[in-house]
Amino acid sequence: MTKWYDNAIIYQVYPRSFQDSNNDGLGDLRGVIQRLDYIKALGVNTIWLNPVFTSPQVDNGYDVSNYYTIDPKFGDMATMTELIDKAHALGLHVLLDFVLNHTSDKHPWFQDALKSPNSLFRDYYIWEKTTNGLPPDNWGSFFGGSVWAEHPSEPGSYYFHLFDQHMPDLNWKNPEVREAMIEVAKFWVEKGVDGLRLDAFIHIAKGNLHQNYPTDSDEPVVAEPMFANLPNVVTYLQEFVQELRKINPNLYILGEGASADPNLAALYTRPVAGSALCDAIVSFRNLPKQARPQTKVEQQWHLRQQEKLDLAALPDSIVTWQTVLAQTTEPVLYFSNHDMPRMATVYADPEAQEQSLKTLATMLYLQKGAPIIYYGEELGLTNVELTRFAAFQDNTVAALKDQVPAAEQSAVLKDLSQTHKTAARQVMPWDDTPNQGFSKHEPWLRVKGKQTSVAEQEQDSDSVLNFYRSLLRLKQTALFMKGDFCLLNSPAKTIVFTRELNGKVGLVLTNLSAQSVAVSLPDLSLGKPELAVGHWQITDSELQLAPWSSAVFMTEHFDN
Ligand code: GLC
Repeated sequence: MTKWYDNAIIYQVYPRSFQDSNNDGLGDLRGVIQRLDYIKALGVNTIWLNPVFTSPQVDNGYDVSNYYTIDPKFGDMATMTELIDKAHALGLHVLLDFVLNHTSDKHPWFQDALKSPNSLFRDYYIWEKTTNGLPPDNWGSFFGGSVWAEHPSEPGSYYFHLFDQHMPDLNWKNPEVREAMIEVAKFWVEKGVDGLRLDAFIHIAKGNLHQNYPTDSDEPVVAEPMFANLPNVVTYLQEFVQELRKINPNLYILGEGASADPNLAALYTRPVAGSALCDAIVSFRNLPKQARPQTKVEQQWHLRQQEKLDLAALPDSIVTWQTVLAQTTEPVLYFSNHDMPRMATVYADPEAQEQSLKTLATMLYLQKGAPIIYYGEELGLTNVELTRFAAFQDNTVAALKDQVPAAEQSAVLKDLSQTHKTAARQVMPWDDTPNQGFSKHEPWLRVKGKQTSVAEQEQDSDSVLNFYRSLLRLKQTALFMKGDFCLLNSPAKTIVFTRELNGKVGLVLTNLSAQSVAVSLPDLSLGKPELAVGHWQITDSELQLAPWSSAVFMTEHFDN
């Protein structure tokens, strides 16, 4: 049976950065409402909103202190309902970001749990005791340091936090927790949201909390096998989604499975008792990547290395994702999100910035699967330059301020701005007024310089924005939504594939390099391309593609 989300094309809105309607420097829900027409005109049909629940904002909303209310910084329930209704009226679906692995430490459950070991909510979280003055194990948190934090007034009593210490993990072993989270999710499904992005769900089951992870280091280590993708994740997930689908059988469950490989993604999307666990999985391993050689600054200050696409591994990776998922779902097609540096910073060729972005988008989004476009990607936005360590909102980065000598700070900040997620969360540049139409107030994230804007790109028929609109028009057709996918043999650094439906074929040829290339063509008479980037020319049985060029032809079935 066809579901609405079989045709999902998703736009990710980071609410604090999209549009500020009340001029406090922070984007809000009314701002999103004001820009719904823009989103619709881009050619997407679904919006994913990063978390907007009440939160102390230690992790920009992923630390929820009340799941039943909207953070006043973003608006209120009436505005949320209005957003859902107005989006629906435009034919747009709305996905909420549902944080289920942890709460904020300010959540009333945790506040009560802190009061006494006998609190009814103590067991909502994960507690362990030790008598040797050390945490129960050597596991490291994703945000640095140990996953354990000591109770402020009970020495030797520790609670577990996979992310920030102000984000204690929920104890999903406890049936009351499972029930409570189902209740919260039901509340939102009943409010009319069309789907949930399940934040970090692969971590809801933990291994033996007293087992150290093998390492030579004295420091805590991120011990993924101890807390990711354990068998009980599926058990808990199954109960959760089954209850929600009783209310809305068409609810779209988009699971964030950061470390999922294609096999795990297939496992999480397989049908159990007649309905899929998740409908699709966002994995951070969707594209093969290769670290660039370390810069001097990265070496000296142990900074993260930049990554680029591993073009040699790309064809295999595409085929694997498409094939392994074919029985259960389709791949999620995306380049970046709020946890990564921007696509244009990581993957574009600086010598052919716009053209390389257009060709990369053609290569990915016309494959079979659901695109997710990170707001501003359609303008070709790059990471912005942040000029203060504190602006990165990251404890590890903040610590550098006192370590790096003054003379070297600007080089370190520049490097960090290229690789850090916060530098990819800039406010949306709508026009060329002082705060770029985002707000009349100084935006929450101060950046150096101005960015290209929607207004500017609207005027230019060749802009990245106008290209994305054309590309998504093509993506919306039945051929590119439903057509069978087949990768064809092609020279190194090119990706060539077909989509086929009822004898109609879309042939997509992309050159992902700065060199011209000749791709041999099937014996067909190809007319004008439906969509093209850069320069191409057909000679005999070859298509010459100039650097970073691409072409999409419509044709009939052929044997390759
Ligand atoms: C997810 C989010 C990330 C957040 C983390 C903790 O990975 O995408 O932004 O910090 O979960 O909720």
